[in-house]
Amino acid sequence: MRSKLVVGNWKMNGGLVANAALLGALTTGWRAGPERLLAVCVPYPYLAQAQALLAKSPVAWGAQNVSEHASGAYTGEVSAPMLAEFGCRYAIVGHSERRQFYGDTDGVVAAKAVAALAAGITPIVCVGELLGERESGVTEAVVLRQLDAVLAQVGQGADRIVVAYEPVWAIGTGLTASPEQAQAVHATLRERLAVAGAGDVAILYGGSVKADNAGALFGMPDIDGGLIGGASLKAVEFLSIARV
Ligand code: PGA
Repeated sequence: MRSKLVVGNWKMNGGLVANAALLGALTTGWRAGPERLLAVCVPYPYLAQAQALLAKSPVAWGAQNVSEHASGAYTGEVSAPMLAEFGCRYAIVGHSERRQFYGDTDGVVAAKAVAALAAGITPIVCVGELLGERESGVTEAVVLRQLDAVLAQVGQGADRIVVAYEPVWAIGTGLTASPEQAQAVHATLRERLAVAGAGDVAILYGGSVKADNAGALFGMPDIDGGLIGGASLKAVEFLSIARV
């Protein structure tokens, strides 16, 4: 049976004081089991704080991005070996905000996934269609193109990735894909992953997940948990989602 995984994506939010309160509430409130896992992906400067506050807890942590390069003259970038030094278990790659605002192409996203795996970090590979793409009926083609780019590069590492399906029109908008819409895409992704020998990897759903819609989404057969933005900044709400 696949474990349920819920990951918080803080995006560019937080501060030392607020983080301490939030992380403290998570460590106090979370009881892990082998079948349910919780993690937070924090801004780079807070990785040391997350490591210090979460190290003895069952809550894992990670980053929201990673360089495709291991080291060198890449001003402003952070490499996967650096993330590993701070105990990161996960690195989000290909979030739609990176694709939209920072030019992360399918090829760059794939290279970032490879770099994360090489450092022992699980890449959370985000895929998702724009509203116009859904309306013109190319959702499956878009997410498969994004996934295939990664599968082509990670090779044997395919079964060590996590995939997150995040319809771009549902991120931060309050609009959520219906459980049936999300399940349909997840099933398509799983079929493709199975061909690559990775049919059992976790496929998370993301996009305006809240405590009151998480149950219906996570109840679908191919939805293994969630990638949670706004709602991950509130401990009570985030824990309710994780306990679904
Ligand atoms: P949201 O963000 O939950 O605020 O919609 C999800 C994400 O961008 O990962």
